Amino acid sequence: MTNNKPSIPFLDLHKINSRYHELLKNRFSDFLDLGIYIKGSFVEKFENTFAGFCGAKHCVGVGNGLDALTLILKGYIEIGKINPGDEVIVAANTFIATILSIEYSGLKPVLVEPDEKTFNLDVYQIEQNITDKTKVILPTHLYGQLAQMKEINAIAKKHGLLVVSDAAQAHGAKNNDNGVAGNLCDASSFSFYPAKNLGAFGDAGAVTTNDAVLAKVVRDLGNYGSSIKYENNYLGVNSRLDELQASFLLEKLENLEDDNKLRGQIAKQYLSEIKNEKIQLPFWDGSGNHVFHLFVIRVADRSGFCDYLEKSGIGYHIHYPIPPHRQKALKQFSDLSLPITEKIHEEVVSIPLNISLENYQIEQIIMTLNQY
Ligand SMILES: Cc1ncc(COP(=O)(O)O)c(C=O)c1O
Repeated sequence: MTNNKPSIPFLDLHKINSRYHELLKNRFSDFLDLGIYIKGSFVEKFENTFAGFCGAKHCVGVGNGLDALTLILKGYIEIGKINPGDEVIVAANTFIATILSIEYSGLKPVLVEPDEKTFNLDVYQIEQNITDKTKVILPTHLYGQLAQMKEINAIAKKHGLLVVSDAAQAHGAKNNDNGVAGNLCDASSFSFYPAKNLGAFGDAGAVTTNDAVLAKVVRDLGNYGSSIKYENNYLGVNSRLDELQASFLLEKLENLEDDNKLRGQIAKQYLSEIKNEKIQLPFWDGSGNHVFHLFVIRVADRSGFCDYLEKSGIGYHIHYPIPPHRQKALKQFSDLSLPITEKIHEEVVSIPLNISLENYQIEQIIMTLNQY
């Protein structure tokens, strides 16, 4: 991207959060008066409210989305449901954090090609890649669209596997039975990174599950492996949701359903009004199963298209430019050939879709794409 500021930014977080500024100043003042910074009533209230929002029995606030996933996997090892070296099936085109969490837990990521239509874990590929060592299926609800959880849970049941979802991009996504991301499998992780549909004002994350034993171990693992001060049962880490972020997230959670609806309306408009054979639009069945964290299109000549967007003043991002198995950090996977994943990474472009877009900006984006 050039240094010129686009006239329509990809994301204007300051504008999105400005509606909370007065409210949050009050919250900050309450927080200063109270003087409790870690493990206080705001975190407890947020955990209960977010668990209720997801329809899950337990929510544990943690430091970020990567830790949420890592602590779930380490938690399952601590309670003896899986062992180091076990295999975890994961889509090869997920954000690298999903794969890092598996590595950090001492488990073995098995990278499989995604379904090209949805960008999510391909059910057929899961079946093809199950071995005696497979113990977990780990779907990401990529870009905000639920993976095929019914089918994935059925495969898991048949083979006695755990299902852990990376719901970092899918807060509030619902299936047709009104099940919500965070309660569609054994355990789920969330990120509240500022740009997410439910974004904090810094790093934050959470784990949801119906399993009380797992929830307790995750909580302890994120607190130095301890539930009683200075008594350490596990090799834990320091990864706790802090009071200030929890108090801000509580305010923003109130608007999440409406925000997601607005995202859906913008997506609907893009899908019906962007008409250009050179642009492949994302698949959506029109239900609540997609909360459009990102609106990701595909173009064959991506660099030409991005130049055109820059000249037209439209911000964009690429999620993601390099597939995990081609990252230097994951060179153990560099011999893998994953043509679908590699093609996706060559062609995807995320265009602006967020709740701060004005109607005239949406129309300008549509017109620009149609004229490409
Ligand atoms: C799919 C996915 N998984 C995991 C993460 C990690 O979340 P965090 O940045 O909060 O650690 C992210 C965040 O960017 C994500 O998009």
